[in-house]
Amino acid sequence: MTETTPTETTPTETKEQVITPWEVEAAPGGSVDYMKLVDQFGSTVISEELIARFERVTGKKAHHFLRRGIFFSHRDLKELLDHHEAGKKWFLYTGRGPSSGSLHFGHLLPFTFTKYLQDAFNVPLVIQMTNDEKFLWKDMTLEESIKYTHNNVKDIIALGFDIQKTFIFSNLEYIQYLYPNVLKIARCVNLNQIQNIFGFKESDVIGKFTFPPVQAAPCFPDSFPHIFSSDDPEIKNIRCLIPCAIDQDPYFRMTRDIAHRIGHQKPALIHSKFFPALQGHNTKMSASDVNSAVYLSDTPDQVKDKIKKHAFSGGGATKEEQEKNGANLSVDITYEYLTFLLEDDEQLKDIAEKYSTGIMMTGEIKQILIDLMNKVIARHKEARSKITDEVLSSFMSIRKLNF
Ligand code: TRP
Repeated sequence: MTETTPTETTPTETKEQVITPWEVEAAPGGSVDYMKLVDQFGSTVISEELIARFERVTGKKAHHFLRRGIFFSHRDLKELLDHHEAGKKWFLYTGRGPSSGSLHFGHLLPFTFTKYLQDAFNVPLVIQMTNDEKFLWKDMTLEESIKYTHNNVKDIIALGFDIQKTFIFSNLEYIQYLYPNVLKIARCVNLNQIQNIFGFKESDVIGKFTFPPVQAAPCFPDSFPHIFSSDDPEIKNIRCLIPCAIDQDPYFRMTRDIAHRIGHQKPALIHSKFFPALQGHNTKMSASDVNSAVYLSDTPDQVKDKIKKHAFSGGGATKEEQEKNGANLSVDITYEYLTFLLEDDEQLKDIAEKYSTGIMMTGEIKQILIDLMNKVIARHKEARSKITDEVLSSFMSIRKLNF
């Protein structure tokens, strides 16, 4: 080997971003590099053309999550739209690992978008609650994971899902129906592959190694015999679309790899970016870190406090500096949250202009966000107060859906 200078051999500043279903950490000092992820994972960026097609097929203006590149990447979305236009059957699948008593704003991304898709396409939806996953990964008892499940399901129902078309299930209760597919999937994936896809180590508990087929099984229609009849000669052609944050992609890469071997269609995916933590773009809002997140159960004062104290600002440090230089929108968390929550394109553009040129102060934009978040929370609390235990049981009961 030839001799190299120390700067070439010491990989100090080259630490890579780490994005797994359990960890979201940008490279030091930076924000998550989504294009790099698309490259690494081998998914496809959603093009303007595909968004236009979406609008033609649904007959509606695309959701602002699509227009603003918040749902930004996909697998087989074109094929799924073809399938839909040909009048063939498909369903939506998404999920939630119940790791805290309440949902936070980050969870609104996949669920709000899923509801929009359900309304736009009039298709059945299954929602998996992975209390088994959280038991295995977190310091949590089974009883706690079940309690969180029920609280979270009420939050999810309150977002307005159609009971005629939505089935919500908890893995601990529903596993017997998933089990045949869990087994078929587990027979197609070996230790080497699972370690490569998920980065498990030899010292990890074996429960982690056996979990991925459980998240994969709901991609296949015969995991839901009460929704998709086994007598349907077309059952093997029913497709599935999964809206999820891009960190969940490893599960479904695995699933897509083996789908044909067990006689099923590959699931299609539509990936979102992360809802960043209050502290900045280097990680996501996390239910396990109270200060990183605004919960749908927070009080108006808590929201005000969190945004004022913790939302990372790209504005000037003083009034004078802000007036002189304006704000750097690309690092400003308050502005980014507005791109998620403020539907009005004109108003958002106006704020961007005024804030970035120093006409608007950080305090003012934060106040707009605080008011908006509190409005969303008040609406949510009102809707959630109507979700009784009976409503919860109906959504989770094994029954036929109407679609
Ligand atoms: N693993 C996900 C979480 O921790 C939960 C989940 C299960 C999920 N199935 C899914 C998410 C399908 C998206 C799509 O939150």
